[in-house]
Parts: sequence; structure tokens; C-alpha cells
Amino acid sequence: MTLAEKIGQMNQVNASDDDMTDQVRQAIGAGRVGSVLNQVDVDSVNELQRIAVEESRLGIPLLVGRDVIHGFRTVMPIPLGQAATWNPDIVREGAQVAAREAATAGINWAFAPMIDISRDPRWGRIAESPGEDPHLASVLAAALVEGYQGEDLAERGTIAACAKHFAGYGASESGRDYSTTNIPENELRNVYLRPFKAAVDAGVVSLMASFSDLDGVPATANQFLMRKVLREEWGFRGFVVSDWDSVRQLGIHGLTENDRESVFQAVTAGVDMEMAGESYVNNLEELIDDGRIDTAMIDTMVSNILRAKIRLGLFENPYTDPAALPAIANDEALETARKAALQSVVLLKNEHRALPLSANKLESVAVIGPLADAPYEQLGTWIFDGDSELSVTPLQSIRDLVGDDIDIRYVRAMPNSRSRTTESFAEAVEIATDSDAAILFLGEESILSGEAHSRADINLPGAQAELVRRIRKTGKPVIAVIMAGRPLTLTNILDEVDAILFAWHPGTMGGPAIADLLFGVESPSGKLPVTFPRMVGQIPIYYSQKNTGKPPSPDTVVLIDDIDARAPQLSTGMTAYHLDAGYTPLFAFGHGLSYAEFDYENIRSSAQEIGMGDTVTIGAELINNGVVAADEVVQLYVRDLVGSVTRPVRELKGFKRVRLEPGERVTVDFELHTDDLAFFGRNMQLATEAGDFHAWIGGSSETGLRTEFRIIDGD
Ligand code: NOJ
Repeated sequence: MTLAEKIGQMNQVNASDDDMTDQVRQAIGAGRVGSVLNQVDVDSVNELQRIAVEESRLGIPLLVGRDVIHGFRTVMPIPLGQAATWNPDIVREGAQVAAREAATAGINWAFAPMIDISRDPRWGRIAESPGEDPHLASVLAAALVEGYQGEDLAERGTIAACAKHFAGYGASESGRDYSTTNIPENELRNVYLRPFKAAVDAGVVSLMASFSDLDGVPATANQFLMRKVLREEWGFRGFVVSDWDSVRQLGIHGLTENDRESVFQAVTAGVDMEMAGESYVNNLEELIDDGRIDTAMIDTMVSNILRAKIRLGLFENPYTDPAALPAIANDEALETARKAALQSVVLLKNEHRALPLSANKLESVAVIGPLADAPYEQLGTWIFDGDSELSVTPLQSIRDLVGDDIDIRYVRAMPNSRSRTTESFAEAVEIATDSDAAILFLGEESILSGEAHSRADINLPGAQAELVRRIRKTGKPVIAVIMAGRPLTLTNILDEVDAILFAWHPGTMGGPAIADLLFGVESPSGKLPVTFPRMVGQIPIYYSQKNTGKPPSPDTVVLIDDIDARAPQLSTGMTAYHLDAGYTPLFAFGHGLSYAEFDYENIRSSAQEIGMGDTVTIGAELINNGVVAADEVVQLYVRDLVGSVTRPVRELKGFKRVRLEPGERVTVDFELHTDDLAFFGRNMQLATEAGDFHAWIGGSSETGLRTEFRIIDGD
């Protein structure tokens, strides 16, 4: 390969319809392009591959990339919603469907999974993330990689995955997108890097460097991340792509004086391919001629990219025949989307068993709100190729489900979720007054979350809270179904509704899933993958916090209204809480109610003491004391009581989704090897430290039965 051809492989260009110029075709023919993105017309993609294969000197096929994040035409719930399923099988299946559908367009590389831990619901990209917990995120990261890539990437219908954004992006300051992140190495390793390690272990083909600045060194120039951790420690053999133009942006960050220096920093740090910029093609050759970058380094980087093309079988099969793949949005794809939506919905509150609605007892139901019949909005962020004509909305599904048995009256009430106008509220109140119950479809449109769509106020936007209050006054049961791309602070409507189903953006089949849950055809089984704050000032709030030297407890918390005005300093509890919010969240990580009644009994540990390298089994019995069959996500948490660095008050270590018939009792066991309890300690080495542990099994991070065990050192 000539140097220009090597640099060509490191260059990814935008080939969207607007950018499909002759220049792009010529550059491919000249061997100056290794990858394109954003072309989804299969004939055009085949034509670009033909130019690469037949007209370029070396005939190297192209990687064809696209943001296939939560579906292609058939849209699954947003990734945060998928995380709420706590079900790696359905998440894997969703990625398989996405890969098969995207492959029909000639796409062979998805910019997914996005596995940035996020503990800040203001951040718009929390919608794309697996939530706050490294264990849940790691399990889902591996499932997603397996889903996209299958067992053999050369098989039809599998595509390369790209774990992003490496790393730390989810900690963007104040939840503002693209903002600075400062993460101490210990927290980086124990929290943010773990899902990436899981993706690498699952064989992910590529990683994308983050836009963000990590401890003063933007990820795109971060040698610690890409050389030390990724290559040296993890032995990653795939390739790293920059984010869109993020090489040139190193100058904008103020890290470099010009593009050439930016290229020097990005290449030295290990960014093998530049996405949608021209810095590599314009500067790399001179940096090599000047002896600042070694050709051996370039050879390694190009090999990383070529290995991916070989794994994909592109040299044997560069072209796509859509007819050889399953049809788009076939029954199986739609069923996967329905199941994923069904399991993603979280029942946050259910006062007096307001849900499920009983079709026998109701004659009329008022359906109200801007998101009841919004086919595009229910799909959520990142749906470049999503087909909103396939969407089945809740209104449609409720009507289909109840048929003539119940009179369904519908008023949208607001043109969109952000609207402040209350003009149609009277009409909404009227139908609620005349009905036996009201279902309010509230939340955020898809445009309020996702990339560059962060919010500082995460209450229900617009006049929605006012709508809730007015409907409440009718005295009818009020059910809120909330679709949103993030946790919302629901404190101001919590007491105004009888039940809340939190449905995220549920995707193509959100309607049938929600209708089945409302009317009890199925029981809700989603669990929160992220903590819901009471108010925005509590952020960051997450369950696996440290104990602090002054942990709060119900006994120490004195809230602002109870402070003795004469001696305020004496009347507070002197512990770590907010005077106006306390210390607990509105809804805890792992929370999610059911129509069944699950009780936990008899937690036990197989041993009180185990040696280093041994396994302990923690088990408990789960009983369905209710009258309906339902799934429960059983969760195992552990606390390491004393560590060389302070340890979280609880850490998720395992979970299982189990289905129980009414009256059924099962034992759920979790095996814990001492390696599962390893963490990066004060010396930044991954190790398990001997000592005492508490373990809980239960249905959320704030409940559960407790047992104990001890790890003793062998010597
Ligand atoms: C920028 C986003 O940060 C990234 O997630 C995405 O894959 C690329 N643009 C390509 O669209």
C-alpha cells in the first residue's frame, strides 16, 4: 500500500444524499476513502462498493456506517427503556433485528451500542444510555454487541458494532451535552470503563472516541484511554474511530494550535479512523514525512481497520442483495419490538390498585394528552431510518383492545408537550367528567432528549402539570402514562394521579404494549435503570453512593419547614442531605411495581466464610402472593464493608427476570465468585479485598432481605 492508500483507509467520509458528490466517488476510486457514513440507499451503497472494489487500485471494500441505535425501520424502545427491561435476551434480539434491517441497505457497521453510564437526567443523551449502573450496563453492552455482530460477522444480516463514547461522556458537567468531564481515575475504572471492558470482551469490532474533555485531555487525544487502558491493559485488536470532526475540534478545545497538531495528537493517542473530517487526509502525510509519526504506527492502525473488513467478510462479499435478507418490519421484528416495549414500561405508582383498568367495570374512558396519538414522537431520539408509519399508537391500540365494550373519548389537549396554552383543557375536563376514568399521555416529545438536547428543568414541560391538576378535580381515577427520554422530576404531579406507567419512548410497538398493560392483559415488569430525583438540585443522585462520614438516616433528617427558627444550627441532623429534599430519591434504581404481589423470604448464604478464589451462593425465595402471573426482576446487591478506598453502600451484582404464576414460590440463587467483588483500590489495581460483606436480594435497590458473608485471605 502507498502511504496515501493507507491514509485513505483511515478516512471516513459523509456520503449522505446531499454529500454524494462526484468528489466522493472519485476519492473512493483513488483509494482515499476507507469508510462512508449516512448513505442508506442500497443501490447507491452497492455503487460505492463497486467503485472501491473495481476502480481503486487495491480493491478494498468500504465500511458503511450508520447510527442504528435502537432499531432501523422497526424501532425498539430507546436504549434507556431497553435497559429498564433488565433483560439481555430481549435487548440482544432487538439489536439482531436492527442489524438485519440495516444490512438490507448495505450498512455493515452500526455506531452502537452507546454505553455511557449516566447519572444526570438533564443530559439529553441519557436517552441513549443504559443508565447509571456499571453492572447492568456491562451485561447489556455484551448483549448488544452479540446482537449486532452475531456469532460470525461474515454471516449475512450481522454488522460490526461500535462501543461509544470512549470514555466518560456521560459525566458531562451539569448535564450539558459536549461539556467537560472530570472523573477521578478510580471512579473512571470502577464505573465508566466497565461497560466498555464488557464490550471489548464480547468482541466488539470498534470503539468511538468521545467528544468530551476528560480531566483536561479530550478523549480524542487521550493516550491514557486509548493506548494504556484499551490496547495495553485490555488487548483490544479492533479499531477506534473519532466522533464527527472531533479531531479538528481538539483545536477548538484549546488543546492544539492547528489541525496538524490535532492530527498528531489524535493519531498518537490511537484514533485509527477520522469520522467526517479532512484533517487526516490533509495533514498526516506531512507528519510522517517530518518524522513526527512513524509509519510503523500507521501500519498498525491500518491493520486494525483492515482486520475489521476481513472479519466482516467484505473482501468475499462486498455487495448487498436485500432480497437475500428477511423483510423489513416482519412479524418477528414487530413482535420483538412489542415484547421489548412491554418489558420496558415501569409502573412507578399504583395507589389503591387503580391499575389495571377493568374492561368489565368501565363504560367509558377519557384518553387525553399530546402523546396518546403521536406516531413519530413515541419512537424517541436517533431514528434516522425509523418509519413512523409503522408506529402503532396507544390510542389506536386501546381502541383495538376494548372494541365496543368501552367508549373511548379522546382529546389531545395540547398541540405538543411544550405548549403553554390551556385553551383545550376545558374540553379535556369535559370528557374526563363524563367518563369513568382518565388516562393522560404526558411526557416529552422526542426532540427534548438526545444529542445536544439537554434540559436544566426536568419537570413535565409546558402546561402539563396544570392539565393534570384540572383533570384531578373531576374526581375520576387519573392514570398517567409518561413517555420521555429521561427521568423526570414528577414530584409536582405525584399526588395528583392514582397511577403512573413510565413508558420512556417505547418505539414502533409502544401502543399495543401500553394498552395491554393498562388493561391487565400483561403485568408491568420494567425496573428503573436510573434513579428518579425529587428535584433537579439532587443531581447527581444514584443508589451506589458512598456512605460518607456522616450518613443521613430518618432520625437525622430535619427538613427546612421543621427547623427551629431560634437555633437553626442545632436543629439539623448534621448529616449528608438537602434541607429541602432530604436524601432519598423520588423513585429508586431498580424500582418497578407489578400487578402481582411479590414477597421475598428466607435469604441465605451458602457459607459464612469463603476463601479468596471461592464462590458463595446467595439465594432467597420469591413468592407470588397475588392473583395474576407476572415477571419479577430479582436483584442482588452487595456491600463491601471496609475497603482500601471507600465502597458504595450497595452495588448491583446480579439480576434475574423470572415469571411466577399466582401462588407460585421459587428459589432464586446467585453465584458470587470472589472475582465478582473485585474493584480498583487505592493502588489502581483490580483486586478483591478480604473482609465482611452484606448481601441483599429484593425487588429494588432500596428494599430486600439481608445476609452476610466474609472473605478470608488464604495466607
Ligand atoms: C455524533 C454522535 O456523538 C455519535 O454518537 C454519532 O455516532 C456520530 N455523530 C455519527 O452520526
